[in-house]
Amino acid sequence: AVRIGILTSGGDAQGMNAAVRSVVRSALSAGAEVFAILEGYQGMIDGGDGIREMSWDDVGSILHRGGTVIGTYRSAEMRERAGRLKAVHHLLERGIDRLIVIGGDGSLTGLNLLRTEWPGLLDELVGSGQISQQTAEEHPNLMIAGLVGSIDNDLVGSDMTIGADTALHHIVSAIDDLSSTAASHQRSFVVEVMGRHCGYLALMAAVAGGADYVLVPEMPPAPGWEERMCAELRRGRQAGRRDSIVVVAEGATDREGNPIRSDYVREVLTDRLGEDTRVTILGHVQRGGKPSAYDRWASTLQGYHAVHELLTATPDSPGRVIGTCGNRVRRLDLMTAVHDTQQVPVLIKEGRYDEAMAMRGSS
Ligand code: F6P
Repeated sequence: AVRIGILTSGGDAQGMNAAVRSVVRSALSAGAEVFAILEGYQGMIDGGDGIREMSWDDVGSILHRGGTVIGTYRSAEMRERAGRLKAVHHLLERGIDRLIVIGGDGSLTGLNLLRTEWPGLLDELVGSGQISQQTAEEHPNLMIAGLVGSIDNDLVGSDMTIGADTALHHIVSAIDDLSSTAASHQRSFVVEVMGRHCGYLALMAAVAGGADYVLVPEMPPAPGWEERMCAELRRGRQAGRRDSIVVVAEGATDREGNPIRSDYVREVLTDRLGEDTRVTILGHVQRGGKPSAYDRWASTLQGYHAVHELLTATPDSPGRVIGTCGNRVRRLDLMTAVHDTQQVPVLIKEGRYDEAMAMRGSS
């Protein structure tokens, strides 16, 4: 039978468990054998108990749970060829030559690297006598499929990544909660949200939470933005608004590329407007808790497609990543999606904001 390995890598995201469950059960239904690789790529490097065969029941009662029950890790060893050599050896010990990775763009880049290096790594293992020529001939290629697990929603080409919807719910709920205490004291709150280089969570939370101002990485504000922000908040107060909320994406910068810190925004509001201002950095609560209904069903559909991608791919198929476009599951070219995603911060640095936004708009 075909043997598929599944792992979660990078920052955890709500819905990863739903995807793991779907991969395991879709694979078993299709007659494949499926192995969980524990603690991300590290499980492959460690081998032994780090790779565990999964049954239908092993993924029972995890659909609604946050995080990832098979563990995740940002493995430094996997970035070294020596680490990847060990990993391939351990995969071959189990006869695994198909991999599904649920992670962000960094984890998916690593996956593609493993695919391209596979034949060379096999030669090296045969040369050093660690695997037989026959084993190498039985598994000439690594076939891969990626699923994007990241609350940041930063993959260009896909509408939503696994976890983004749940994280957005957390942020909007926090803004609602902050609004009532802000209104009671007529205070201003600066709310800092995650997202790395991507402003999706900040922008959507600002819209859904009715914030007064938002700062996102894709549109660094032109000089003088402090005055414009103050004018906006002043107008709100004059119109009788009792709470003021400014949402700051953690990756927001000015046009020179200097980070815009939440504390700086607080100082501006305090000094220029005389506002009693507090900063709330939401942090990892955004990544916690149960996945939303969306993150459960979307991850389930994507897991199914990832398995079928692996079962239908030919050795010369490019690696694919499973995304969502217009509410439909799509199989995208993995390296194009990763390249475009990594291009956005470059465009921003070069001041090509419209192009950066257009790329984001395609997602
Ligand atoms: O990529 C997900 C993310 O939560 C980002 O939004 C954030 O910048 C980063 O991971 C935090 O990483 P860590 O969990 O390692 O602190």
